[in-house]
Amino acid sequence: MSFITLLGAVACLAGVQAQNCLNTVNATGYLNYTTVTGYFLQDNPTTNASTFDYTATNFGLINRTYPSTDGLTANLTQWQKFEAQVNALNAAAPLNTAYKVLFMGRHGEGVHNAAESYYGTPAWNCYWAELNGNATNEWFDADLTPNGIKQALIAHDFWAHEIAVQKIPYPQSYYTSPLTRCLKTANYTFAGLEFPKYYPFVPTVRELLREGISIHTCDHRRSRTYIHNLFPTWNIDPSLTEYDQIWNGVTAETNAAQDARSKIVLDSIFSSDDHTWISITSHSGEIGSILRVLGHQSFSLSTGAVIPVLVKAEF
Ligand SMILES: *[C@@H]1O[C@H](CO)[C@@H](O)[C@H](O)[C@H]1NC(C)=O
Ligand SMILES: *[C@@H]1O[C@H](CO)[C@@H](O)[C@H](O)[C@H]1NC(C)=O
Ligand SMILES: *[C@@H]1O[C@H](CO)[C@@H](O)[C@H](O)[C@H]1NC(C)=O
Ligand SMILES: *[C@@H]1O[C@H](CO)[C@@H](O)[C@H](O)[C@H]1NC(C)=O
Ligand SMILES: *[C@@H]1O[C@H](CO)[C@@H](O)[C@H](O)[C@H]1NC(C)=O
Ligand SMILES: *[C@@H]1O[C@H](CO)[C@@H](O)[C@H](O)[C@H]1NC(C)=O
Ligand SMILES: *[C@@H]1O[C@H](CO)[C@@H](O)[C@H](O)[C@H]1NC(C)=O
Repeated sequence: MSFITLLGAVACLAGVQAQNCLNTVNATGYLNYTTVTGYFLQDNPTTNASTFDYTATNFGLINRTYPSTDGLTANLTQWQKFEAQVNALNAAAPLNTAYKVLFMGRHGEGVHNAAESYYGTPAWNCYWAELNGNATNEWFDADLTPNGIKQALIAHDFWAHEIAVQKIPYPQSYYTSPLTRCLKTANYTFAGLEFPKYYPFVPTVRELLREGISIHTCDHRRSRTYIHNLFPTWNIDPSLTEYDQIWNGVTAETNAAQDARSKIVLDSIFSSDDHTWISITSHSGEIGSILRVLGHQSFSLSTGAVIPVLVKAEF
């Protein structure tokens, strides 16, 4: 039994449904992740996450020189230099090592976020969050609010700007949580941008990128058929069941169990996808968990915010 399968078994014991535990890859051995620091403001301990604006800071990319671009006379943007640096790291890496850049976007404001502000967190947690909604608003598998759509469109405009002005590398693969607010955020963020034909915007919906399981109905997903009908051209991971087998309104996921399944989905992506520039659309709790697995400092994202991370994976 490989270490990965073993971790899968731990996640199963911790309450994640058996079906998802089969969704592992048979990589040879253990994958160890580290965040390569010194490139982004978000991995610097002095950066204040609560006031950080990714659109005002070039996604947080630090203005600096890199060993691989020293002496280059070409007039390259900071993102072009960073791309050259990442390519140089991969070219020099031993065969068991890969560097990837993950752009992790939190969904825009959902109906549940607005309701939590409206009712206050204690009343929300103790009562309202366990209902599917109130008389006028539904927050079961919460949809985006108009403000949430606006935040996703800000991300859209910022990507368009970064592509045009910074010549930022295009994402080569896209993954998203199966919850409506993430599906729609990914769509509003990337639909309508011009991408190379060989890196089309066709996300893969992954069960294990969903929000931490709680008894809140906002984290109860809709069916596979609903997801397919919403975005018929997108890929859906084969292990995603027709009906939600994980959320039950009674039990919740511990941080340790969530980190174990975050590692399973990262292991799966890192073992099966040889692209370097990867977009993930997920949730505050789940991105927090992925950051823990990557050894990144804690960095809370506001709704609609995006964080890039340079990851070193050693197989
Ligand atoms: C991994 O290997 C096990 C044991 O050989 C096998 O049963 C399982 O189907 C494999 N899983 C995948 C995803 O290939
Ligand atoms: C993972 O990598 C870090 C940093 O290189 C190292 O300290 C740690 O021991 C490694 N862990 C495993 C399980 O190999
Ligand atoms: C971060 O910014 C917030 C809002 O301005 C402030 O309340 C908080 O004290 C700051 N945190 C640190 C560590 O400076
Ligand atoms: C880097 O420099 C550019 C242009 O001088 C500036 O717009 C940008 O905000 C700077 N980025 C950071 C992260 O300091
Ligand atoms: C270098 O590129 C920047 C950004 O595209 C541009 O503003 C600047 O004029 C260019 N400088 C030269 C010397 O071409
Ligand atoms: C339902 O909750 C929303 C907040 O999400 C609030 O604006 C609305 O007034 C509430 N409806 C009723 C009938 O209380
Ligand atoms: C997807 O995004 C496009 C472009 O913003 C928008 O017109 C469309 O309504 C969105 N689809 C859904 C299902 O939200």
